[in-house]
Amino acid sequence: MNLILMGLPGAGKGTQAEQITARHGIPHISTGDMFRTAIKNETELGLKAQSYMNAGELVPDEVTIGIVRERLMQADCTDGFLLDGFPRTTRQAEALEELLEKIGRTLDYVINIDVPEKVLIERLSGRWVSPTSGKAYHLTYNPPKVPGKCDIDGSDLIQRDDDKPETVKKRLEVNKKQTQPLIDFYTAKGYLKNIDGDQDIEAVSRDIEALFLEQR
Ligand code: AP5
Ligand code: ZN
Ligand code: ZN
Repeated sequence: MNLILMGLPGAGKGTQAEQITARHGIPHISTGDMFRTAIKNETELGLKAQSYMNAGELVPDEVTIGIVRERLMQADCTDGFLLDGFPRTTRQAEALEELLEKIGRTLDYVINIDVPEKVLIERLSGRWVSPTSGKAYHLTYNPPKVPGKCDIDGSDLIQRDDDKPETVKKRLEVNKKQTQPLIDFYTAKGYLKNIDGDQDIEAVSRDIEALFLEQR
C-alpha cells in the first residue's frame, strides 16, 4: 500500500502513521523526523533545515524533494510506504508524481486528517516527544505510562523547539496556505480521502482502517 498522510501541524499524522505502519508493515517516512534526526546529528542536511524549521517555515523544495527521492529508492519501500508530511507544496506533489512514474508505482490513498485550528493549538501545546524514538505523547490525551518518560525507550520526554506558541502560529499560517492547492491536486486525481481528525486517537484510527476496506 502506497500512502500519503496530510494534515496541518498537530493533526495527528505522526500518531496515526505509527499505528498504520505497524499494522501494515510498511516504512514510515516523515520528512519532519528526517530533518530532526539530521539536526541532532549535525549533518549538512540538518544545518540546511534548522533555521527554516525553527522559524516555522518550510524547508526549500529542492532539499525536501531530494531526501524523499533517495528514501523511496531504498529496498524497504518496494512493498509500500507511508509518507507523513510530504508533499506539502504542489511542486513537491508534482515531483513525487514524476518519481513514482519512474519507479512504476501509483498511490493508493492520500488521507487528509482534518482538525479545527483551535484543537490543533491545544494539541501542540501539550505535546511531549521522545528525543530518541520521536514518539509523541500528550499530557491530557495520550499520556505516557510513567510521567515524563517514553514507554518504548524510557527516555526523558522533551518539547519540540518548534512547539513554542509563536512558532506554532507561524507553522499553521504557512501550512494553511499550502494545503488547499494540494487538496485540489489530489482530489482531481481521485486519491483524496478526508478523515475527521477531531475525535480520539482510536476513533481516527478506526476510520482510516475502514477506508482501506472500502471499494475505491
Ligand atoms: P513535521 O514534523 O511534519 O511537523 P508538522 O507538519 O507541523 O506536524 P506535527 O509533527 O507537529 O504534527 P502531527 O500531525 O504529526 O501530530 P502528532 O501525531 O505529533 O514538520 C516539521 C517541520 O519540518 C516543518 O515545519 C517544516 O519546517 C519541515 N518540513 C517537514 N516536511 C516538510 C516538507 N514536505 N516540505 C518542507 N518542509 C518540511 O500529534 C500532535 C499532538 O496531538 C500529540 O501530542 C499527540 O499525542 C496528540 N494527538 C494526536 N492525535 C490526537 C487525537 N486524535 N486526539 C487528541 N490528541 C491527539
Ligand atoms: Zn509529525
Ligand atoms: Zn489495516
